[in-house]
Order: sequence, then C-alpha cells, then structure tokens
Amino acid sequence: MYAERVLSGMRPTGSLHLGHYHGVLKNWVRLQNEYPCLFFVADWHALTTQYDDPRGIEQATWDMVIDWLAAGVDPNKASLFIQSQVPEHAELHLLFSMMTPLGWLERVPTYKDQQEKLAGKDLTTYGFLGYPLLMSADILIYRADKVPVGEDQIPHVEFSRELARRFNHLYGREPGFEEKAREAVGKLNSKNKRSFEHLRTRYQQDGDAGALEQARALVQEAQSLSHADRERLMGYLEGTGKMILVEPGYLLTEASKMPGLDGQKMSKSYNNTITLREDAASVTQKVKRMPTDPSRVRRTDAGDPDKCPVWQLHQVYSDEACKDWVQKGCRSAGIGCLECKQPVIDGILREQAPMQERAQSYLDNPALVRDIIADGNAKASKLARETMRDVRAAMGLSYR
Ligand code: TRP
Ligand code: SF4
Repeated sequence: MYAERVLSGMRPTGSLHLGHYHGVLKNWVRLQNEYPCLFFVADWHALTTQYDDPRGIEQATWDMVIDWLAAGVDPNKASLFIQSQVPEHAELHLLFSMMTPLGWLERVPTYKDQQEKLAGKDLTTYGFLGYPLLMSADILIYRADKVPVGEDQIPHVEFSRELARRFNHLYGREPGFEEKAREAVGKLNSKNKRSFEHLRTRYQQDGDAGALEQARALVQEAQSLSHADRERLMGYLEGTGKMILVEPGYLLTEASKMPGLDGQKMSKSYNNTITLREDAASVTQKVKRMPTDPSRVRRTDAGDPDKCPVWQLHQVYSDEACKDWVQKGCRSAGIGCLECKQPVIDGILREQAPMQERAQSYLDNPALVRDIIADGNAKASKLARETMRDVRAAMGLSYR
C-alpha cells in the first residue's frame, strides 16, 4: 500500500567512532542502495537527558552529519535531516500524548533502566517519560515500514506499533462505521455475502490468513461496490478501521564487532575509542599503547592471542594469511607485539583514508552540509505534512 521506506535516527553525540561505523553506518550505507531512506539527527531526543545543558547539541549535530557523509552516506540516495527542523514531529507527539495511557510509558524497559544508569540526573521529567512517544511520532509520521535499530531500541519500535494500532482503532473509523459496513455487506450479491461473512469469521476468530486473502479478493472483485464501501469492507474484515498510520517493522542492526582499545565494546563512556576521522599520528599512538596479553612481559615470552585485545582488531582488519602469522608468531614469541600491531594500524588508516577525504571537502565548504540538510528537511517536511493532513482529518481537526 505504501512505498517501502527506511527510517532511522541517531542522537547527536558529536564525533562518531569506528564502533558506530562498523555497527550502524555501514548498515545505512548498504540500505541506501536498497530502499528510499530517511536518516535524521534526533536532537530533541538529546534534550530528554541533556535538557540542563543544550548548548552543545548544535555543534554535535554538524559534526555527526559530517561523519555520516564521511562514512559514505550519500545525500543523493538518502534524505538527511534534523528532527527539530520538521516541527510536525512535535504536533504528532502532542496528539499521541492525549491517547497514550501512562502505564504504557512506565512499562517501557528503558525508562527505569536509564533512570538508574543516569542516577546523577533528575529524569523524572515529562519529556523523558514521553521518549517512546516522540520516537513513535518520528517513525509513524513517515509511514516507515523498516526501522533499522539496535537491540536496545526494539521495545520502542514495538511501542510505536501498538500506538499505530490504537490510533487506527480510535480514529480510523468514520462515525457510524459498523452500520455503514453492514450496509455495504448488504450490497454484495447473496452468494458473496455468505462467503464474506464466513471468511471474516474464519479470519477474526481463527486468524486464518488464507481466509483473509480470499475475502480481500472477493471485495476487490465485487462489481457493485463504491470505492468508499470497498474501504469500509476492508476495515470491517480486518477489524482495524482505516489504516491511517502504518505499523512499522524493524530491521535489527547487528551489534558492532568492533572492539575498543581495551577489548571491551568500543564506547565513548569507556574512553576506548578511535574516532572516524582521528588523525594518523593519534591512531598509531593509541594502537601502540594498547594492552596485550599480560603474560608477554618480555619479548621472548610466548603469548596467547585469545587473551589480547589486539587479536580482536585483527579479526576486523586482517586477512587469513596475516591472522595466521599472528597466531604462530605470538604463540612462539616469533614476533613482538609492536610488530603485530602494525597491520592493524595500517588497516585502520586504510579504512579511514576515504572517510578523511570525503570529510575534508565538507570541512572546507560547510555550506555544502547546510544545503544537504536543508534539502533533506524539505523532503521530510513534505512527507510529514501529508501524514499530518490525514491525522488531523481523522481526529476532526481539519477546520475546512
Ligand atoms: N532512540 C534512538 C536511539 O537512542 C534514536 C531515535 C530517535 C530513533 N527516533 C528514532 C531511531 C526513530 C529510529 C527511529 O538510538
Ligand atoms: Fe597480542 Fe599480537 Fe602481542 Fe600476541 S603478539 S600478545 S596477539 S599484540
């Protein structure tokens, strides 16, 4: 019914690191070749936890967008925009806030988790509780059916599915829907009437998908029906009313296999990152300082790659021949750790080279980035306005 569309957002955290690249960004770059994509900076989401210090958000946004572009996100293929520049997200969020039971929000697992994790901050705010509503507005306003997210965000996407269903249930029906739907059934010839009722029962009571298909075909083919009656019968059949908002699906983004410099997951809060555009000298120094298997105290001590975070980086950057060289050389003390680290350094620098180059053209000409975002904002606004027109009409807020 709607074009397949991918939508994803990222909070503006400033410069991204290679963990983001190997997790999220490579995935976006792949998806942009397969679907129409919308990628946005979730700057309002940053405010849910950073409301006391919002000044850095703007700079963090531009830095992050340059990193997206550096990683190969292509503005000719995907639309890149900033959430707060499409204020329709806020309007939909407000309307959702009217119809969402508090219990739904309190039950979202990240709500309590995050409050505990960020215990130093007062997160007993209205906006923080409403985070999943804002995220639902982000998704549903584009009628996106594919939302790439990490595992931690899946409950939020599921939340948005429930909300879409609730919205369609509450507002997707015209006044007197049941009666009009029954009248429409009456307009079918007697054979079709009986089949339709039978198939509808089989679908609604037993969830029989085949029956749903048959009934849909029957409605499509019935000559005697107006377009409006056909829509009514579809809604009557599926028990949903009209589908104003689309229930999205998620695409699970596999967790990045990129380890940090200490072997833990790469993360800003662990202080173990290499940024996407980190300069060569700093990359070299960071890798050279990485801890290795602690049992290799002297150069002549044999080691075990399984106990060494450098080995994990070889998994990302080295071919089989090189990995073989590491295994043999480490276990026999045939190679030194600095020697072992060199191919990793080379691998990282090789990966970064095209990113540095792309980034440089945007750093030299910041107006390019502003134009890309202005263009994306305009494209997103157009889609958001279309949805909001339907939403307002469904809720009786059109004032025509
Ligand atoms: N909540 C997401 C995160 O913290 C960011 C986000 C906001 C998002 N709105 C979204 C992701 C809509 C996908 C779709 O990572
Ligand atoms: Fe780690 Fe390589 Fe040193 Fe072995 S040789 S301990 S794998 S850095």
